[in-house]
Amino acid sequence: MDISRCAALILAAGKGTRMHSPKPKVLQSMLGSPILAYVYKALEPIFAENIFTVAGHGHEQVSSAMPLAKLVIQKEQLGTGHALLCAMPVLGEYEYILVVNGDAPLLQTEILENFIQKADGCDVAFASIILDEPGAYGRVLRKDGKIAGIVEARDMKTDASTANEVNAGIYLLRVKALDALLPQMGNNNKSGEYYITDLVGLGIARNLDVRAIECGRDESLLGVNSPRELTALETIMKTRIMESHLDAGVIIHEPEQTRIGPFAQIEPGAEIYGPCEIYGSSQIKSGACIYSHTVINATTIGKNAQINSFSHLDCARVAENAIVGPYARLRPEAVIEENAHVGNFVELKKTTLGKGAKANHLSYLGDSEIGANVNIGAGTITCNYDGKHKYRTKIGESAFIGSNTSLVAPVEIGENALIGAGSVITKDVPCDELGIARSKQKNLPRKHIDNKNDEGS
Ligand code: UD1
Ligand code: MG
Repeated sequence: MDISRCAALILAAGKGTRMHSPKPKVLQSMLGSPILAYVYKALEPIFAENIFTVAGHGHEQVSSAMPLAKLVIQKEQLGTGHALLCAMPVLGEYEYILVVNGDAPLLQTEILENFIQKADGCDVAFASIILDEPGAYGRVLRKDGKIAGIVEARDMKTDASTANEVNAGIYLLRVKALDALLPQMGNNNKSGEYYITDLVGLGIARNLDVRAIECGRDESLLGVNSPRELTALETIMKTRIMESHLDAGVIIHEPEQTRIGPFAQIEPGAEIYGPCEIYGSSQIKSGACIYSHTVINATTIGKNAQINSFSHLDCARVAENAIVGPYARLRPEAVIEENAHVGNFVELKKTTLGKGAKANHLSYLGDSEIGANVNIGAGTITCNYDGKHKYRTKIGESAFIGSNTSLVAPVEIGENALIGAGSVITKDVPCDELGIARSKQKNLPRKHIDNKNDEGS
């Protein structure tokens, strides 16, 4: 098959009533990423740009979570067949469409490749799997071993097939065959919906080449329809990801308590202690060590860097040999350069901490540029917000900021400057000078209070 003439269509417009959640089902999170992102990950190596998604319920949310997705809007969710119908105007130029349910996050590229290979040349093909408990899945009907159609569980008559072969929700459809089949789809069933699965029976009635591609008991094709199914598939995915990292040479202690998302890249030789969570497009380089109870999202951790326990890193970058935590918080655009140290109860946001610089205790550093080898004393706060606007703080190389200093931005501290502890700095301090802004200490004679009648409490 000429795959460039084949498009993928993800059905993702449904509400997901059985999830009981205001979020569209395809945006439910599995290991920090939406279900829909997993489906894309499986399709992209085959279809590249030629992937379309039918969105409807909560389509604005789908579009902001997946900004690169090409969406087709299904205004009313009248069923999976109707979703396909809504997408036909953008699919007409292709020869084949691979349709997948957007609620199948365990899908894998190789499974899709095999399916396409076996379905090649068909008019209508779908993947079938065997389930011990077929539950709400559509049942494959066979007569003398030949496929006769698919019947949805809710529409089954008692005399219908009780076999365990079910429809997995993946279809290969020849666009030309659809011209005749789609107008014949009806909604005369218990849900009053147009079912994509009816194309199978309609195709057979027209003597078209209709195939069930048998995929055995592969759990990769299961769908998420309820919180219980979400949890079950998340557990399978978690184990898969964990095993692939272990096999590649990542050292993971307590792997069963470690959650790593599908897009995280971890080099062999990195070391991770569970429980811990690593999500998004995080990258962890060789020799880096992540200690327990740490949450990392979309953050790069350089070679041999050390992230101590109970730290929280989001959209940040930590360079080689830097040390972060315990109990550190790096918010978006925090950059910790080589050999820098961030200690306990220190929060950074949109701030670069230069090479070898230290902020070891109890600080807030926001909208700041901090030079190499600066020492930030305990309790230093950048006062970056006046209630309306944010302002920047700049601290030159090797400056020393005494403890409990407030730097009222915008403000600049020159290289090698020294700030006296307890200062409230509102004006720039030139290079090599001492800035001190606190009231002078007075020592007065102490008044002794007669406590005789005080019975205490
Ligand atoms: C569907 C199949 C069933 C199959 C199962 C496999 C139909 C009628 N049934 O059932 O045979 O065994 O998948 O997992 O197709 N959607 C839309 N628009 C709609 C309705 C649904 O885009 O109007 C999307 C949903 O967002 C979802 C997908 O289609 O991603 C499947 O819908 P879902 O309600 O999960 O169907 P199932 O009951 O699982
Ligand atoms: Mg489903």
